[in-house]
Amino acid sequence: MQVFLLLGILSVAAAEDGLAAWLRYAPLPGVNHQAIPSNIVALNTTTSSPVYSAGVELQKGIQGIFGKHIDIGYEKGESLSTIVVGTFGAYSQEYNNNFNAPDLEEDGFWLNTQNDTVQILGQNERGALYGAFEYLSMLAQGNFTKVAYFSSPHAPIRWTNEWDNMDGSIERGFGGPSIFFQNGLIVNNLTRAAEYARLLASVRINGAIVNNVNANVTLLTPQNIAGLGRIADVFRPYGVQLGISLNFASPQTLGNLSTFDPLDPSVIEWWGNITDQIYEAVPDMAGYLVKANSEGQPGPLTYNRTLAEGANLFANALQPYGGIVMFRAFVYNMLNISDWKADRANAAVQFFKELDGQFDDNVVVQIKYGPIDFQVREPTSPLFANLLQTNTAIELQVTQEYLGQQCHLVYLAPLWKTILDFDLRVDNRSSTVSNIISGKRFNRPLGGSAAVVNVGTNTTWLGSHLAMSNLYAYGRLAWNPSLDSEAILQDWIRLTFGLDPSILNTITQMSMESWPAYENYSGNLGIQTLTDILYTHFGPNPQNMDNNGYGQWTRADHLTIGMDRTVSNGTGFAGQYPPEIAAMYEDPSTTPDNLLLWFHHVNYTHLLHSGNTVIQHFYDAHYNGSGVAQTFVPLWESLKGKIDDQRFEDVLFRQEYQAGHAIVWRDAINDFYHNLSGIPDLGGRVGNHPWRIEAESMVLDGYKSYTVSPFEAASNYSAVVTVTNSTVGTASTTLGFPDGKYDVGVNYYDLIGGISHFEMFLNEKSIGSWAGDLENRLGHAPSVYLDGHSATRKTIRGVNVKKGDVLKIVGTPNGIEPAPLDYVVFLPEGAID
Ligand SMILES: *[C@@H]1O[C@H](CO)[C@@H](O)[C@H](O)[C@H]1NC(C)=O
Ligand SMILES: *[C@@H]1O[C@H](CO)[C@@H](O)[C@H](O)[C@H]1NC(C)=O
Ligand SMILES: *[C@@H]1O[C@H](CO)[C@@H](O)[C@H](O)[C@H]1NC(C)=O
Ligand SMILES: *[C@@H]1O[C@H](CO)[C@@H](O)[C@H](O)[C@H]1NC(C)=O
Ligand SMILES: *[C@@H]1O[C@H](CO)[C@@H](O)[C@H](O)[C@H]1NC(C)=O
Ligand SMILES: *[C@@H]1O[C@H](CO)[C@@H](O)[C@H](O)[C@H]1NC(C)=O
Ligand SMILES: *[C@@H]1O[C@H](CO)[C@@H](O)[C@H](O)[C@H]1NC(C)=O
Ligand SMILES: *[C@@H]1O[C@H](CO)[C@@H](O)[C@H](O)[C@H]1NC(C)=O
Ligand SMILES: *[C@@H]1O[C@H](CO)[C@@H](O)[C@H](O)[C@H]1NC(C)=O
Ligand SMILES: *[C@@H]1O[C@H](CO)[C@@H](O)[C@H](O)[C@H]1NC(C)=O
Ligand SMILES: *[C@@H]1O[C@H](CO)[C@@H](O)[C@H](O)[C@H]1NC(C)=O
Ligand SMILES: *[C@@H]1O[C@H](CO)[C@@H](O)[C@H](O)[C@H]1NC(C)=O
Repeated sequence: MQVFLLLGILSVAAAEDGLAAWLRYAPLPGVNHQAIPSNIVALNTTTSSPVYSAGVELQKGIQGIFGKHIDIGYEKGESLSTIVVGTFGAYSQEYNNNFNAPDLEEDGFWLNTQNDTVQILGQNERGALYGAFEYLSMLAQGNFTKVAYFSSPHAPIRWTNEWDNMDGSIERGFGGPSIFFQNGLIVNNLTRAAEYARLLASVRINGAIVNNVNANVTLLTPQNIAGLGRIADVFRPYGVQLGISLNFASPQTLGNLSTFDPLDPSVIEWWGNITDQIYEAVPDMAGYLVKANSEGQPGPLTYNRTLAEGANLFANALQPYGGIVMFRAFVYNMLNISDWKADRANAAVQFFKELDGQFDDNVVVQIKYGPIDFQVREPTSPLFANLLQTNTAIELQVTQEYLGQQCHLVYLAPLWKTILDFDLRVDNRSSTVSNIISGKRFNRPLGGSAAVVNVGTNTTWLGSHLAMSNLYAYGRLAWNPSLDSEAILQDWIRLTFGLDPSILNTITQMSMESWPAYENYSGNLGIQTLTDILYTHFGPNPQNMDNNGYGQWTRADHLTIGMDRTVSNGTGFAGQYPPEIAAMYEDPSTTPDNLLLWFHHVNYTHLLHSGNTVIQHFYDAHYNGSGVAQTFVPLWESLKGKIDDQRFEDVLFRQEYQAGHAIVWRDAINDFYHNLSGIPDLGGRVGNHPWRIEAESMVLDGYKSYTVSPFEAASNYSAVVTVTNSTVGTASTTLGFPDGKYDVGVNYYDLIGGISHFEMFLNEKSIGSWAGDLENRLGHAPSVYLDGHSATRKTIRGVNVKKGDVLKIVGTPNGIEPAPLDYVVFLPEGAID
């Protein structure tokens, strides 16, 4: 029988900084520990063994959850009340018991809690550790169900990619600098690297590529190869294998060879030698990740060799050691937008389809989930349906590059499920992406998934406590893609924040609503995340999507919008899918609304299946999505006192930021398309802001008007900045709103390169002050301009205002930040604007 403890009044624990993530082992009061075994037998005494780690972990977890110390032994003892953890092989030997294990996959395990002796047996050592984490997860959630079951992974490759640079920075990382690298070397103190491996093992991740795909050749110096050995040593007790990204030109740039042609014997020898050296330092290295001929990276095409020849160069070097090459399919050329048929989405199939069958068996082509680049919604990459004789893996992003950079809550499992569950109908047969990447659909020996994670030294790992649900869900789905997104989320919530049902319900609601909300206020109908693709990929900048060579185009003009990817009149991309899917996407009437503009170039007045026009859908969705983001603040506040103050305040700060930035998104996108199409919002909302006062229309002293570019990043296109960067500015106005209580929002710009100070007065009485210091608090790639990235809102709540009151804002500039102000908004109860 299962017992879920309902903990009514539970004193709130001490401040938590997030480091323990979902492995907190928080006390479960009121549980009788009699039910818990009184000792542990871990069937391996080697401290680097995952079985040994499992023993230590069980001891630690039981101590934390039940406050009960239990001893670890390493061989069969007298006690029946034992947790035995080990491999099936070790168990059979020690207990002289030929346990009848079914055909478990590598890393699989058996968990049996039905008898006095709890059995946790792995197909290998790693599997035993996974079983121990599974058991602890149940206990930590107060789940005492008696169970006995086998669990096997869906696919063998369950890796992370870390885009860490040798100087310690992380490309698209939002949780502080690297835990692996600093100043061109591997850090001395690898405590955090070990803790990360433990976290990964707890969700059954078995490999991590530790350096950026835009790889630096200096990783391969002898000193750094020795450093990699040290990282592998701290990963090994958790069964996480280390892998690295390579720079294709290394034989030339590092090795002084005259060439890096993959067929040149000196190059082959050079890579063989390097590989030997690495395996000497890291005998269990997982393999290499290669980004070649992509975004300026060198590759085999430089020598007119195929991508397969490039991949097989590494495959040959790794083969004697059992290593794997993950070869990225993210290969594309720059394009000219004046060519109607040019389409970056076509690139992967164009480059890779003809190579099907030419990759060695230890090569895995790593394919981003969609054909462009981690957008808020994309169709499934058709490459999955075009490589029938090649191993494939899906590439996901836990780090939220285009999805709010951990400053917006976006729970991603539901997005990933749209891809994993998608049936590509190869040969008119069921062909889900999850069954393709597992190798099952096309009988491939290898496959799986990789996710770009980019944890940093911040104690929150990813920069945001709530973003950790994405790392947790990634691991769970890599093991079993048929799991339900919400069920995974709820395990994570219980482990991270405890068992209080109001916490569970609230965070479930916020998280499950978060991706739809983000899609609604960023980019709808398959138009992509309408961000600044030439800069930080964070805030709104729709015009920046076109007029560049990157091919993430929208082709929006004053009448029409969308990419025509049909075969009949467009880029032909729809035809890269198997016939059933191609036919669906070829025709606007059978294309789902949420991908309409991905596949079709239509009038703004085109009618959707929903009955709305495209443009009205934009307006409505942006109001709806940003409205939902406002509700996350009171939802989260309802948990005050139920969560430790440190995490409560950290999350509250981010939810308030998101609520403000969602309004920035809403207005920028709506104003942009309203301006472009000239079609009014039937709801009368767009361009109509009765509660706002534009800064440029206030009485200014020391401030001057400033025309913001892109225009849609400012209400009424304009803001104010101080006259010089040493002049204190004042903006004041007499209020004409009816008497009442208002939340007062101030939209301003928070740039990197200065920390301005702001103070707001009502009739000369201060009602709030703040600093423009988000660059130190948000952890995301910031902006030096007044734009959609730096635009933000500060809200002072519950201000009593009388008609005729005088509002004054004093802005003190600092550095390059000229205390920029956009507008002030007085929101009566219930209003959002
Ligand atoms: C114990 O662990 C070591 C290191 O992982 C391993 O080499 C050895 O095979 C393990 N022994 C058993 C019995 O599992
Ligand atoms: C529990 O123990 C009993 C008696 O040893 C045994 O018959 C039974 O198979 C065990 N159950 C499981 C699930 O191992
Ligand atoms: C308890 O854990 C078992 C094993 O993981 C699981 O099957 C079961 O659904 C859990 N019970 C609840 C209520 O979550
Ligand atoms: C590679 O790393 C070295 C050492 O940190 C650094 O000096 C160099 O600038 C880096 N190269 C690139 C292209 O980033
Ligand atoms: C290593 O790092 C850990 C965690 O970041 C820290 O607690 C510890 O003090 C450091 N050790 C040394 C020797 O600096
Ligand atoms: C490559 O050339 C540089 C400069 O000529 C030299 O310092 C370095 O030792 C050489 N490296 C190798 C591996 O030969
Ligand atoms: C690799 O090359 C280095 C220098 O070129 C040489 O000293 C070393 O013996 C080679 N190692 C192997 C394993 O071939
Ligand atoms: C590249 O290789 C192809 C096929 O082997 C050949 O037809 C072509 O002429 C080569 N191009 C160059 C520039 O060498
Ligand atoms: C973590 O990041 C937050 C926000 O960027 C910052 O305030 C905090 O100081 C960081 N903590 C650590 C330990 O890096
Ligand atoms: C067909 O393509 C042309 C560009 O070649 C485009 O101007 C036209 O709008 C498209 N027609 C339809 C019906 O989409
Ligand atoms: C789009 O609008 C134009 C001009 O208003 C019209 O001529 C054209 O037929 C419309 N296209 C479709 C597909 O409705
Ligand atoms: C004003 O900005 C310039 C560069 O834009 C900077 O060099 C200068 O230090 C700033 N002055 C102050 C007082 O911050």
